Amino acid sequence: MSKGRALEMLANQAVDAAELAAIAASKLTGRGDKIAADQAAVDAMRTGLNAMAMKGRIVIGEGERDEAPMLYIGEEVGLGEGIEIDIALDPLEGTSLTAKGMNNALAVLALAPRGGLLHAPDTYMDKIACGPGLPAGVIDLDATAAENATAIARARGVKAEDVTACVLDRERHDGIVESLRSAGVRIMMISDGDVAGVISAADPDGAADLYIGRGGAPEGVLGAAALRCLGGQMQGRLHFRNDDERARAERAGITDLDRKYDLTELASQDCLFIAAGVTEGDLVQGVREGAGYVETETLLLSSVTGLRRKIRTRRPV
Ligand code: FBP
Repeated sequence: MSKGRALEMLANQAVDAAELAAIAASKLTGRGDKIAADQAAVDAMRTGLNAMAMKGRIVIGEGERDEAPMLYIGEEVGLGEGIEIDIALDPLEGTSLTAKGMNNALAVLALAPRGGLLHAPDTYMDKIACGPGLPAGVIDLDATAAENATAIARARGVKAEDVTACVLDRERHDGIVESLRSAGVRIMMISDGDVAGVISAADPDGAADLYIGRGGAPEGVLGAAALRCLGGQMQGRLHFRNDDERARAERAGITDLDRKYDLTELASQDCLFIAAGVTEGDLVQGVREGAGYVETETLLLSSVTGLRRKIRTRRPV
């Protein structure tokens, strides 16, 4: 069986793992305790992953072994049979969103055959992404935000005012925001959750044309996995705040700390990307409870088939 086919056969169970995490986290929506919500999602996703017929290995997880008792980087998951799979996960992407009962929290994971996802350390990453159908090289991390947005406008044959950039609302992005505004580009600020931010720039249903800014490196690889499935372009460069973070990168096997990664390096092989809604969101609906059931909505993307599927599931409770 081809690796692609073997990967595809894991899709249903991977969706289950994300949905279990979403349901568990949603029970703690608005409680003001992001650690408890994250822990609930981790426990549930781990249970789901361990039921899967694969030799799974976490390459992007909750952190290093000494700080994360579960779903730590290097942890082996699955039944220990079948294809060797590398997994990037964020059982609760938007811990603060969940704790505050705000929209757009997700349970996210990506699966690829071994070696298919960059082993990004838990540091920051500068990211830029756009959707499919644009000339190769239209975006570049080393150009200004305004230059990138106007390059997209030019390629599309529209004005800069017709381009929307998604940016995490952080003080560190003041320069980006100023640059975009100087060119007349529209801005969609998000308070958290840049995996969904990256997707919003590539998904036909998304509200943005460009994602730009600094966020988590693990989230960068998850966004890249989604883009590999949706089509589009992305670049990322690790950003270190101190020597401890540089040491983390070296432990993850990264030698060139200044490297500008492109999409094919962030997600170098075919992959599956799965995002289940925790709270209500633009990408997928949140967990909803009805009489005797709990309903989830999940986005499943596959770069093997190019399939983009939304799955609504009711489980009896
Ligand atoms: P959580 O840890 O609350 O899940 O945060 C998610 C997130 O918003 C990511 O989507 C993003 O990459 C990162 O945090 C940004 O980090 P910071 O909040 O430190 O700017």
